[in-house]
Amino acid sequence: MNRDEKMIEIKDLFYKYPDGTNALEDVNLDVCKGDSVAILGPNGAGKTTLLLHMNGILSGRSGLVNICGLAVNKENLPKVREKVGLVFQDPDDQLFMPTVFDDVAFGLINMGLEPDEIRRRVSDALKLVDMADYPERTSHHLSYGEKKRISLATVLCMDPEILVMDEPTGNLDPRHRKEFICFLKDTDITKVIASHDIDMVLSICNKAAVFDKGRIVAFDTMDKIFGDKELLKNYGLD
Ligand SMILES: Nc1ncnc2c1ncn2[C@@H]1O[C@H](COP(=O)(O)OP(=O)(O)O)[C@@H](O)[C@H]1O
Ligand SMILES: [Mg+2]
Repeated sequence: MNRDEKMIEIKDLFYKYPDGTNALEDVNLDVCKGDSVAILGPNGAGKTTLLLHMNGILSGRSGLVNICGLAVNKENLPKVREKVGLVFQDPDDQLFMPTVFDDVAFGLINMGLEPDEIRRRVSDALKLVDMADYPERTSHHLSYGEKKRISLATVLCMDPEILVMDEPTGNLDPRHRKEFICFLKDTDITKVIASHDIDMVLSICNKAAVFDKGRIVAFDTMDKIFGDKELLKNYGLD
């Protein structure tokens, strides 16, 4: 694996919501192959807004976002979304089909895969999130934690090169949180994880970016970030 290969390159990115809120200000961030980068910072710091730029759901008023060397723009969007699997914070933003099978198969059908391949990938992804018995269940009747796991399956089945996750452990019960952490530790897929779950990011991530008021105030290895008591105190990470 070439760990110098840039999987995500963000340069001078600014984003303002239509109501005038400045959510990102001059953000610069590189994520290399095999990196697991934690995105930390208080509520409203801009973490979710940044993640939504990584597969083109939002696009900045200035600056650039490249995924595996491809600019995130209208033309490249289908290719970018094949590379980046984004797991939303709220699973209700991810699940919209009548059954679990339909939700997990949705992206695979769009990719034009054969029915046998689709069934195999859905079944494998459901096993990974310990939901093998759920394909016929109604997605919107599941508990929040179950929906979170199905949301992860909808992304894993696409075999993305980069996994981008927004608060992935929120509402997971302790056993499934632990399984989720073990799974992420074992896979060398490139990851970006916005979270307040410090124990989780400490066990998975090698780097962290700390956000405050739309800006990156620190970006370094986990050791350096979590060795800086002053920084941790200032941004409520201690
Ligand atoms: N759809 C929106 N319209 C207007 N402002 C928004 C919207 N979504 C988020 N914001 C604002 O943008 C800022 C960054 O939000 P967000 O990226 O959700 O932060 P975080 O994920 O770190 O909690 C906050 O001030 C938030 O209130
Ligand atoms: Mg958020």
